[in-house]
Amino acid sequence: MTPKELMAEAVKARRAAYAPYSKFPVGAALLTRDGKVIRACNVENASYGLSVCAERSAVWKAVSEGERDFSAIAITAREGQGAPPCGACRQVLHEFAPEAWVYWRNARGAIVRRRLSALLPLAFDFKGGHLR
Ligand code: THU
Repeated sequence: MTPKELMAEAVKARRAAYAPYSKFPVGAALLTRDGKVIRACNVENASYGLSVCAERSAVWKAVSEGERDFSAIAITAREGQGAPPCGACRQVLHEFAPEAWVYWRNARGAIVRRRLSALLPLAFDFKGGHLR
């Protein structure tokens, strides 16, 4: 699946976004190594701090369905609004897919791509020994 195709899945996922407070709907599409796509959106709450980003919703949903091996994630806000993943979501993605590709759209609509390891250098995990 190409970045463009995965981004089209993220656009579909965005339709379900529940974002009445920020009015910033976000869609995410996680790709598993065997080609399965998990779609998710941001889900806000009247108690604002309880809101969950689309990327974390996607990870919770995927892991709950037995999927943990991810090769890529695509993220999109509305047209004209860039949506690189927030820091919390980077850490959550690192747990399962430290080398996954992350695709998002910038404000001009172009797909930007980075490895998660480039977006979150020196991530926290329990394997490293923490002598960095
Ligand atoms: N949001 C995401 O879903 N993903 C991000 O990477 C950044 C922010 C959501 C959280 C909140 O519902 C809205 O966008 C505004 O911050």
